[in-house]
Amino acid sequence: MHALEHLFRPLALGPVALHNRIVSTAHQTTLVHDHLPTGDFVAYHAARAQGGAGLIVLEATAVHPSGLLTPHTLGGYLPGIVAGYREVAAAVHPFEARLFVQLFHGGREQIGSAPRAPALAPSAVPTPRFRVEPRALTAAEVDEIVAGYAQAAVLAAEGGLDGVEISAAHRYLVEQFLDPALNRRDDAWRAGPRFLVAVLHAVRSAAPGLCVGVRLSADSERAVRVAGLLADEGVDYVSLALGDSSTYLGSVGIVPPAPVDENAIAQAAGRFEGGPPRIVTTRVVDPATAERLIADGCAEAVGMTRALIADPELPAKARSGRLHELVRCVGCNACIAHYHAGTPIACAVNPETGRELRLPRMVAQARRRLVVVGGGPAGIAAAAEAVRTGHEVVLLERSPGLGGQVALAGAAPAGESLAAAFLDNAARQLAGVEVRLGVDADADAVLALEPDAVVVATGARPYRDPSLTLGGVEALSAWEVLEGRLPAGGSVLVADWGGDPSGLDASELLAAAGRSVALAVASHAAGETVHQYRRNLYLQRLYRAGVTVLHHRELVAAADGAVQLRNVFAPELVETVRVDAVVLALGRVPEASPASALAGRGTAVEEAGDCRSPRSLEEAVLEGTLAARGVLALGSARP
Ligand SMILES: Cc1cc2nc3c(=O)[nH]c(=O)nc-3n(C[C@H](O)[C@H](O)[C@H](O)COP(=O)(O)O)c2cc1C
Repeated sequence: MHALEHLFRPLALGPVALHNRIVSTAHQTTLVHDHLPTGDFVAYHAARAQGGAGLIVLEATAVHPSGLLTPHTLGGYLPGIVAGYREVAAAVHPFEARLFVQLFHGGREQIGSAPRAPALAPSAVPTPRFRVEPRALTAAEVDEIVAGYAQAAVLAAEGGLDGVEISAAHRYLVEQFLDPALNRRDDAWRAGPRFLVAVLHAVRSAAPGLCVGVRLSADSERAVRVAGLLADEGVDYVSLALGDSSTYLGSVGIVPPAPVDENAIAQAAGRFEGGPPRIVTTRVVDPATAERLIADGCAEAVGMTRALIADPELPAKARSGRLHELVRCVGCNACIAHYHAGTPIACAVNPETGRELRLPRMVAQARRRLVVVGGGPAGIAAAAEAVRTGHEVVLLERSPGLGGQVALAGAAPAGESLAAAFLDNAARQLAGVEVRLGVDADADAVLALEPDAVVVATGARPYRDPSLTLGGVEALSAWEVLEGRLPAGGSVLVADWGGDPSGLDASELLAAAGRSVALAVASHAAGETVHQYRRNLYLQRLYRAGVTVLHHRELVAAADGAVQLRNVFAPELVETVRVDAVVLALGRVPEASPASALAGRGTAVEEAGDCRSPRSLEEAVLEGTLAARGVLALGSARP
């Protein structure tokens, strides 16, 4: 008996048979141009089908021009979408994957900048997260949108799709109708479920051959109330996610980052037992957990969206017992950060995601010896790529452990599970690499290893401003706090420039160690460059830990048991705060690199990651991978 026997059992969803129970649920890719799929979009989904997903649900696709969430939302009402659907269907069907599309209307939710179309909603209730101020739909407009669902279903059928999924989740239009706080109409549409029922009827009669599912937020009471109706209406499946897009905190649930519990969906799913088959999704990242969800009766199928963003071959690897090759999602949310930035989908731990057409795999050439200097994410990625393609690799790391800043951040609550997942991937990917720890390698030490090629990924260190006078208080860096050092005194000010999260991490650790902490942030928002869902959770934890957040203050100096802070917008406003210690999180600078010395001595060498200029995990892994590919193509072949 296969250890994952439930996961790989076929499943019927109405008229459609899935060959297994792993689903790539709807997610916007931003691989969209003029509201139509691009070639990159087709290749992206083809990779997930080839990797073995049983069902792919294409992203939220607007049923009407008024329902476009962003400038990159697919227009399911556009006749031109049929050709796009056909291309995707032709690319995924040969791998036995079934293909659905999520039919969507954002209602009062809009993400985008001017010029925006008027926002339409059941009633005129402003929305707090995107700060949209909608007007109430007329009854005629409601009819038009219902007809839009029908037309979108017709186009999906013409495009060769197998099913449609009505988004009634995340407090978008359908759920807005279900919500008495947002539906204050005085016509027949006031009856909450009426809109959903009208949509289901319209879609069924317009495209009777399609499988029809409904997506709900399992943590919404409105969803629980409507669940019984779905069975009565003959809905073929229900897709259970979490979250509410209209609030800061609710939106975190849609794509919850680490450290949110990996199995948060299991409990909520129990409330939907006995209805149509359930596809449950959210932070299910490994096949064994997915198997257990089905075996325990929590679900009939499992959505593994980010797990498949990180590794499209997860189903095939799980099925053939190649779990040691799995690239596990680390929950960093780089994928959804790209969506919010309006840039094509990408994954911090898999540079090929979103670049399926642009980043073909390196084919193994003659075996060469690669020396990698630096065992942070960029160095690990370079070494992993080289060993995967059959090269001999020596990885040199100065500190006693691998992982660089990811491992460092692993000391704090936000980074703990992320670092564990990252290092778990690294341990598997580096099998066969000779790792030498505690080696501070200069050019001579590297050349003594007789490399054919070298990747330098020496990383970054904290920036110390030489003009900053710090006297009369204990001063240490946020990195030192992450390394386990604590200031002696009881009150601490963390001076945070607002970029990387080390100041936030240090604040949390200091508060947990019983210090009274003020976090002075010199930016619009704390953690301005951290993805908003991670930032929301940081703020939640910091407020709960009693950390005082002082916005828009930069550090001027410290003397005699106090620090001076200046308002970044009104610099004449300077205040003095009495503290025992100041912790500095003022940005990073590149570490020294032996790359030019090596190049000067005729070695094929490339740099990768923060030693080129400090950035995020995503750039480090991308550049490490590309550096290995580039430099190995240049280096001399080993006999
Ligand atoms: C980049 C991105 C875009 C998403 N877009 C949609 C969407 O269009 N419709 C939807 O219902 N959910 C969307 N989601 C939510 C996912 O379908 C899924 O519920 C969520 O990622 C949690 O599952 P996971 O932990 O398996 O990733 C999106 C998620 C991501 C990461």
